[in-house]
Amino acid sequence: MTGLTRRTVLKASAAAAGSFGLGWLANAAGAALAAPEPQILTATETTALLTGSTPTQKVLTYGDAGMPPVLRMSKGRPFAARLVNKLDEPTTIHWHGLRVPNRMDGVPFLVQHYVYTGDHFDYAFTPPDAGTFWYHPHCNTLEQMGHGLTGVIVVENPGDPVFDAEVVLNLRDWRLGGDGQFIAPFRPRDAARGGTYGTVRSANWQAEPRYDAPAGGLVRLRVAITDVTRIYSFRMQGGQASVIAIDGNPVPQHFPLDLLQLGPGQRLDLAVRMPDEEGAVVGLEDIRGTKPAMLATLRAVGTSLKRDLGDLAPLEANPVAKIDPTSAKHIRLVLSATAENVASDSICGSLGYSFWAINKVPWPGDTPDPTAPLAELKLGKSYIIDMENPTPRAHPIHLHGMSFTVLASSAGPVPPLVTDTYLIQPDEKVQLGLVADNPGDWLLHCHIIEHQKTGMTSYLRVV
Ligand code: C2O
Ligand code: CU
Repeated sequence: MTGLTRRTVLKASAAAAGSFGLGWLANAAGAALAAPEPQILTATETTALLTGSTPTQKVLTYGDAGMPPVLRMSKGRPFAARLVNKLDEPTTIHWHGLRVPNRMDGVPFLVQHYVYTGDHFDYAFTPPDAGTFWYHPHCNTLEQMGHGLTGVIVVENPGDPVFDAEVVLNLRDWRLGGDGQFIAPFRPRDAARGGTYGTVRSANWQAEPRYDAPAGGLVRLRVAITDVTRIYSFRMQGGQASVIAIDGNPVPQHFPLDLLQLGPGQRLDLAVRMPDEEGAVVGLEDIRGTKPAMLATLRAVGTSLKRDLGDLAPLEANPVAKIDPTSAKHIRLVLSATAENVASDSICGSLGYSFWAINKVPWPGDTPDPTAPLAELKLGKSYIIDMENPTPRAHPIHLHGMSFTVLASSAGPVPPLVTDTYLIQPDEKVQLGLVADNPGDWLLHCHIIEHQKTGMTSYLRVV
């Protein structure tokens, strides 16, 4: 234990977040752009028809009913939302992948207080990056996210190429029994392995939804994996699709979608060329399971627009700082399983087990008494994270508050992807470069929520 009390932690991060010295945070410091009316996000219990004909009880959403809204923001424009908590337990919102000031990051104890039942919290920030992101609570996450609190964020860039249509897919599972009601969210033996899978798949809370799109047109398909466990391997059935962005950031070069593997928390932006023939259907499939699963389909309507994937201008890169390789310091992170089962006392949804660790310290996260940070980074300096995964499972490792660049992998050549979540494979070693340009305490954890909540969580401190 560090002796850090909750109060000193909150004070330290509030002070850090007050010092916006950085270009991309300049608007957040309040210059010319007026603060917008906050969007109201009310965390509520509802019911939803997710499978069969019996509505599922105890579904959670933001709003009155149905899937949490897709939030639309604009790059470089202030955004504000008020979280109103109508749940019967505390909650918060984390803006996954958005580089927000630390005090807006939504992690209880580390950066903000609980938002208790009946209370509200005002979030306000200016997204510096365009792309596909998502939002979710950072409190009792296996339950709250598992029951529905996962929504997609689209940050628009007026300079983006023009598509003929856009479709947003929120991909996730539900752990329901045969009667359509929630069953135990996890099994300990699975938490110690790849995680406990849901029983019912969905896209936008539906089974295999179908959307119409102009024949021969180009569709921007924005896909977010908001499930707590499932790793997907994507393929486009019946048509052509190019990968244009991963985790919100444009890929250096468009490439055809062919079995791309992405984990919980990750996003994929595709340019889909619709078939010319009216009525023809293309579908996004996950082929990672025992048999391919169709996730959602697009049906061509009207006369062909005869567009060409090659006509698409590249997306504009996000303003993520490049590291200085000559001065970069290395930070070593080793993922592991823990042998001993340390009882964890997190009051924000402890699962009661400790199966995983980062650098041998198992920390369930979101506890009143955080462990020491993995490392203290100096504001503005370059770092290379040397991450190793000697475990037999893949882990989607997510860093809050800062984006990093994939520099090298033991698995072979990698494109220099800019991301917030890296799916590290068993036995892989990877080098991730980042400039520590956002002050505060930033969580780093596996996004398989059972791994996160049974020890595979820590944080980096930027001062
Ligand atoms: Cu998607 Cu700690 O977050
Ligand atoms: Cu993991």
